[in-house]
Amino acid sequence: MSETPSVVVVGAPSKSMRQAEVSLGKTVSFSFLDEDVLVAAHRRGVPQSALVVVVLGNPPKENLGGVRELASLGAHVVVVGPEKDADLILAAMRAGAEEYLVEGADDEIRQSVAELALRNTGRALGRVTCVYPAKGGVGATAIASNLAGALHRSGDERVCLIDLDLHFGDVLSFLDLNGGYSISDVIANIRRLDRELLDSSLTHHASGIFVIAQSEKIEQAEAIGSQDITTLLTFLRQHFDHVVVDGLRGLDDTTVAALDECNRVLLVLTQDVPAVRNAQRCISIFERLDYPTEKISLVVNRFQRNSKISTDVIRDTTGMPVEVLVANDFAALIKSINRGVLLADESPKSRLTKSIDGIVPLVRGVPEVAARRRGFFGGLLGRKAAVDGAQ
Ligand SMILES: Nc1ncnc2c1ncn2[C@@H]1O[C@H](COP(=O)(O)OP(=O)(O)OP(=O)(O)O)[C@@H](O)[C@H]1O
Ligand SMILES: [Mg+2]
Repeated sequence: MSETPSVVVVGAPSKSMRQAEVSLGKTVSFSFLDEDVLVAAHRRGVPQSALVVVVLGNPPKENLGGVRELASLGAHVVVVGPEKDADLILAAMRAGAEEYLVEGADDEIRQSVAELALRNTGRALGRVTCVYPAKGGVGATAIASNLAGALHRSGDERVCLIDLDLHFGDVLSFLDLNGGYSISDVIANIRRLDRELLDSSLTHHASGIFVIAQSEKIEQAEAIGSQDITTLLTFLRQHFDHVVVDGLRGLDDTTVAALDECNRVLLVLTQDVPAVRNAQRCISIFERLDYPTEKISLVVNRFQRNSKISTDVIRDTTGMPVEVLVANDFAALIKSINRGVLLADESPKSRLTKSIDGIVPLVRGVPEVAARRRGFFGGLLGRKAAVDGAQ
């Protein structure tokens, strides 16, 4: 099967699948075929794609014959149905569907289709982590850049740090790098970029992480839209184990596109009233955007144990527990920034370095999964690991 993950769509017309094609078209190849043609190809032992999407028409159950046949011929089949109906979902699963998606749930359809097509092509999608500041200056860039380094060090994984502040991003200055290959360069060349070309084009920091920014090529920033950000992140997830996103601000289109696409949002705040209030607002907006609560983690930066705004106050005000405490150490941080290195190289033993290392399991999803299996105490222990580093 070719390197590019491929999807064949059969069955009824579907707006959601057309939308998925528009969003993913540069990174996943789509074709829309007649069901009989596809079944015949599978019978000849010539699968046409990594994933088959069967869109149910009306009445929906009548279309399940095709699902059964394709699944029995070895195809990986996803069903898109008109509604969340328990009987229909069960019937689709019994027919051999690997997943049942609902027409109209465009974000979910896009993510599942990309993920399954990629998995069947023998690759796994990396995880996208957005570091989102509750207000300016709370330390998002400091956390994003050092977290990217921590992820790379902890498992020798491929990590890309991307600065989505297209005009005034400061990831490059934190890491003392020149602009090089920009966000708009990647977007313009996505179809041509295989792993080797990507690696040789992107800026590589001495710490081992790859970095992409736009701020040194501001003149092309205006042309970058929210759709480009979705495409870019889907593409990067195919080539990196982790993508860490900095430079998010407010709720403009590109920021929301990144938030939609990510696996986890680290909502960063400090112990002051404006930051806590804004964090509270952000959480209620995330709720309205339908993000599951497990996707959001509250991170207190520059933690002061004796502050009146304790973690309990923050939890009571925002309605969410604080999951990570990051130590306050201006001297260590400013030294590392001035040298263009990460904290792990400047002050490997500092509390600040250790507290950022403590975010790694959270981003990998380890405590999340373990907490579900181990119940209440498992959850507490997982959380404690992330909090301990700062104390
Ligand atoms: N844990 C910390 N301990 C001490 N100082 C910190 C810490 N985190 C950040 N700072 C300092 O706070 C300032 C702002 O940090 P940073 O630039 O990372 O914030 P930001 O949220 O990215 O800001 P902006 O809104 O400008 O993008 C910097 O001077 C940085 O050195
Ligand atoms: Mg910043």
